[in-house]
Amino acid sequence: MYKNIVVEEKNKINIITINRPKQLNALNKDTIEELHTAIKLAEDNLNIGVIILTGAGEKSFVAGADIKEFADFTISQGGNLAKKGQELLFTYIENCSKPIIAAINGFALGGGLELAMCSHIRIASSNARMGLPEVSLGVIPGYGGTQRLAQLVGRGKANEMVFTAGMIKADEALRLGLVNHVVEYNELMEKTEAIALSILNNSGSAIASAIKSINANYKEGVNGYNIEVEEFGKCFGTSDFKEGTKAFLEKRKPNFRK
Ligand code: CAA
Repeated sequence: MYKNIVVEEKNKINIITINRPKQLNALNKDTIEELHTAIKLAEDNLNIGVIILTGAGEKSFVAGADIKEFADFTISQGGNLAKKGQELLFTYIENCSKPIIAAINGFALGGGLELAMCSHIRIASSNARMGLPEVSLGVIPGYGGTQRLAQLVGRGKANEMVFTAGMIKADEALRLGLVNHVVEYNELMEKTEAIALSILNNSGSAIASAIKSINANYKEGVNGYNIEVEEFGKCFGTSDFKEGTKAFLEKRKPNFRK
């Protein structure tokens, strides 16, 4: 079904591996479309609670947008590349109602770091290298990088990373808050899956409400406190809320995902 990605289902976790290792998993148009389809299917699948994104091979998570594909683009094609990519993948991931965790297994550059940054949680292996090198090509980050890097690490450090086009190592990314954890390469999937499993103990509908409320803080013209009030209220109408509170009162573990 897919040419550029591999999708695996494990314990209610959907593991999506970007699989173009010879091109360091660069994101061409087809890969973006396949990722969109796979994430949509996982979001609609009641058996899936968490999605993990990673890259094939030891070298690269994703080395960016596919430079070979856009090298001859015009102004309007360039604008369209960013717009389409954001709609289909980067904004789509950020707003996905199921948690998406990026397991960063090597280079996460340009569109690759942008893919990690729009994910809800980031775990890196110690060999990972991260950066937004676009200005070294005469462009700027176009998949949300100018916005999300500053949100995650602060404007000053984001300016430095974008202007210098430099790469940072995993331990610096951890210190800056760009990634949540750093582990050895051979422990990356184990650690990422352990976090996914601890998320799976909890209410999927409440987590979807939490994603919406947290994201609201970063949306222009949206009052996040109002969204939180709305989502909080909605929780009271869910079967998960009935089960969660009942289980607490009966001194047992809730069973949200039957
Ligand atoms: N697009 C297309 N192909 C890429 C690629 C990319 N982003 N990154 C690597 N590749 C390809 C190389 O062209 C090479 O292919 P060939 O064997 O066919 O020549 C193959 O992957 C292996 O790469 P290298 O030989 O360059 O490997 P290396 O170990 O010497 O260097 C690297 C690794 C430092 C990551 C280097 O490949 C590199 O700098 N890649 C580009 C990184 C980059 O600039 N990313 C930003 C892209 S622009 C973007 O993302 C725009 C946006 O925001 C929308």
